Amino acid sequence: MSVESPKAIPDPCVLVIFGASGDLTARKLIPALYELHCQRRLPNGLAVVGVARREKTDDGWREELRPWAAKHASHFEEKSWLEFARSVYYHPGDAASGEMYPGFIDRINKIGKAHGINKGDPGSTAGGGGASGPNVLFYLSVSPNLYEPIVEQIGMAGMIAEGKRWCALNVDQVPWQRIIVEKPFGVDLGSAEQLNRSLGRVFEEESIYRIDHYLGKELVQNILVMRFANTLFEPLWNNQYVDHVQVTAAEKVGVGKRAGNFYDTAGATRDMIQSHLLPVLALVAMEPPSRYEPAAIRREKIKIINAMRQISVDKAHEDAVFGRYGPSGNPEDEDGGKGYVELEGVSTTRMTETFAAMRLHFDNWRWSGVPFYVRSGKKMARKLTEVVVQFKHPPADLFRGVEALGGVMSRPANRIVINIAPDDGVSLRFEAKVPGPKLLIDSVKMDMDYTKAFNTQPIEAYGPLMLDAMRGDQTLYKHRDEVETGWRVCDPAIHSPEVRKRIESYPAGSWGPGSADALLLKDGRKWHNPVGAEKR
Ligand code: BG6
Repeated sequence: MSVESPKAIPDPCVLVIFGASGDLTARKLIPALYELHCQRRLPNGLAVVGVARREKTDDGWREELRPWAAKHASHFEEKSWLEFARSVYYHPGDAASGEMYPGFIDRINKIGKAHGINKGDPGSTAGGGGASGPNVLFYLSVSPNLYEPIVEQIGMAGMIAEGKRWCALNVDQVPWQRIIVEKPFGVDLGSAEQLNRSLGRVFEEESIYRIDHYLGKELVQNILVMRFANTLFEPLWNNQYVDHVQVTAAEKVGVGKRAGNFYDTAGATRDMIQSHLLPVLALVAMEPPSRYEPAAIRREKIKIINAMRQISVDKAHEDAVFGRYGPSGNPEDEDGGKGYVELEGVSTTRMTETFAAMRLHFDNWRWSGVPFYVRSGKKMARKLTEVVVQFKHPPADLFRGVEALGGVMSRPANRIVINIAPDDGVSLRFEAKVPGPKLLIDSVKMDMDYTKAFNTQPIEAYGPLMLDAMRGDQTLYKHRDEVETGWRVCDPAIHSPEVRKRIESYPAGSWGPGSADALLLKDGRKWHNPVGAEKR
């Protein structure tokens, strides 16, 4: 039996994508929407309006998008593309300047009318997301320096009817306006607070959807189901039984052309740990919500992130290490075989990290004394995103002195590996008797392969997340407190001169710098680095 979220049908709306010419729009958003169209999961009445500065027509943009959808959607068929493309429009203009808005509002109202989705008083001129007109879902898929100017213009143009909405007698007749904001949400605590204030001046927190595509991944969503829909795991999910937790996001690819225009000012801690891995950690560590509903889940996520120990800048080097990859020597790869420091646009003084590892602690009852290790890096041994829950040894070693296969006397303790990528699945390692007359013990694994178990392919995370925003479900989106506390945890490492000074080079295609191994070794632990064909 499947359980759908309470409000399963997304509301009709106009989805306005600021940054229509961008890579994310072409590679992810449009293919994801097209896939949803093919699966008949889009709301009954959806129009997509792309906004960017370059002049082009609706048809021109549709033609530009077609090859991207053909390449990036899970399947492509001309007939269904043409059907979908009929709801796709383009509006040229500078969204950060007020001049665009009167014409733009008019356009949105007309599109809403053509799709039969306008609400409110038809005589009112305040439409396009105001007190009348269609529901509008804005998507900020632009460079982060444009977030604040665009949001300010949306507010000044009178497109937000929040106050009017709550005063209206029949709330359902007043259109809503929501906004999806892409990462990065600032570059540190100060800038994130400022961005949140700017967003908050125009939108209520309930209308702000800070997107993290990691939270849209099936296996990440499965963490809560695995923990709270089973009796098996949760009783063990605490400091009595868990020795430590590891979260890894390793990528085989290098930074390539992104080095100069983005990556060198960001680095792995901002780009991956603060953005993607802390939210995953929150799902692994949070307390059970009172109900499976957005507000209750959010409350628990905020609580657990707030329980994360904050370290000081001068002590950061004790819990954080940075690295950057050396040359691969392969002229065919995205870096032309160069090491990170040789790439165009990389500063010689900034010491940006392409690898970061951190040891984190939650100061609460459940996790006291259990370290959580996170790491992420580019140009590593393989693509691997996983959560490893390493259990303690049994309290008494009944099999002391019994030979283990291969002569290894100290047997490994139980381990659960949640594999988020590349193979969606969960595996459980436990000890078993090797068949035969002699008592010999070896580790065995029980594997659950998501794709096989449900006979389905994982779907692109952006699609379901956009549907959630159309439904008004913020469960998988980040609250401002989560973002700000995430920065409080990462800022000391980011700003520590000592951590940067100690940055180490690591060979392309390896598991990162030796200092990352040393971080665990000093606690008597090791990273889970699968070898050869071993998946988890
Ligand atoms: C993005 C980062 O948010 O996530 C990229 O900016 C990174 O640097 C990407 O490559 C990884 O996403 P995934 O889904 O491939 O693990």
